[in-house]
Amino acid sequence: MINFHGKTALITGGSRGIGRACALLLARFGCQVAITYQSNEAAAAEVIKSSGQHGLAAKAYRCDVTKLDEISSMAQSVVKDFGRIDVLINSAGISQIVAVPDLTEEDWDHMMSVNLKGTFFCCQEILKQMQIQKGGRIVNVASTAGQVGGFIVGVNYSASKAGVICLTKSLAKYALPSGVTVNCVAPGLIDTEMTSSYPRERVSSLVASIPMGRMGSADEVANGIAFLASDAASYITGTTLYINGGTYLG
Ligand SMILES: NC(=O)c1ccc[n+]([C@@H]2O[C@H](COP(=O)([O-])OP(=O)(O)OC[C@H]3O[C@@H](n4cnc5c(N)ncnc54)[C@H](OP(=O)(O)O)[C@@H]3O)[C@@H](O)[C@H]2O)c1
Repeated sequence: MINFHGKTALITGGSRGIGRACALLLARFGCQVAITYQSNEAAAAEVIKSSGQHGLAAKAYRCDVTKLDEISSMAQSVVKDFGRIDVLINSAGISQIVAVPDLTEEDWDHMMSVNLKGTFFCCQEILKQMQIQKGGRIVNVASTAGQVGGFIVGVNYSASKAGVICLTKSLAKYALPSGVTVNCVAPGLIDTEMTSSYPRERVSSLVASIPMGRMGSADEVANGIAFLASDAASYITGTTLYINGGTYLG
């Protein structure tokens, strides 16, 4: 039985999609939740309202993960408010549909800045706190696009997510002595706001190639993340959990 009683989770990108589903699930499992959002304050407030229904503390913080000073002050505020951070889930991210010849330097830099740099510097900052506490769980959100290349999304997105998978392994080695595990999930096509803007014919064509014949839900990804963030995953670090409806079955 997964149990988060007495624990605090920090979830970046907790206002929507996969991050939102993680916040609601962990709160249901007895976890205090701190979520971050970039601009969608109203959505973040809704998540906090729902998470708080379980009688535990829940709070939202504005933080653009591309800005190191904002990550640092957000982390300090979370520790001040909750006293500790046991779990970090890095779900903040963006995607882009762009053809190779059209991809600009600005597209490349912005994608790397949010998905790769943001994920790393959130890990770096929160690891300091977890090292003081002598333990913790970090779960990063990568993508099948980072393993086999993207079908709909641009090269910049796939490369950023491949980077997330590799930084997860490197950080897992670094964090071993402090009792912190670092893992990631690689979701396939998930039904969230991110994918709602994708061209329908390309989504249908991709869905047709998924053995389970459908998109995944944010809740299904959150289930995998919750496992990796729990004590049940105590002997797992540096791994990538595929949540993709059997995509690699061939
Ligand atoms: N959906 C999929 O098919 C899929 C598949 C594989 C991997 N993923 C990955 O899963 C993660 C979550 O995706 P999702 O589908 O849940 O996306 P989503 O519904 O679009 O939510 C994205 C979240 O990231 C936040 N965010 C965006 N830019 C940010 C920035 N610069 N600083 C801080 N927060 C920022 C957003 O905050 P605001 O609400 O304030 O804008 C929002 O909370 C992403 O890393 C994505 O790449 C998604």
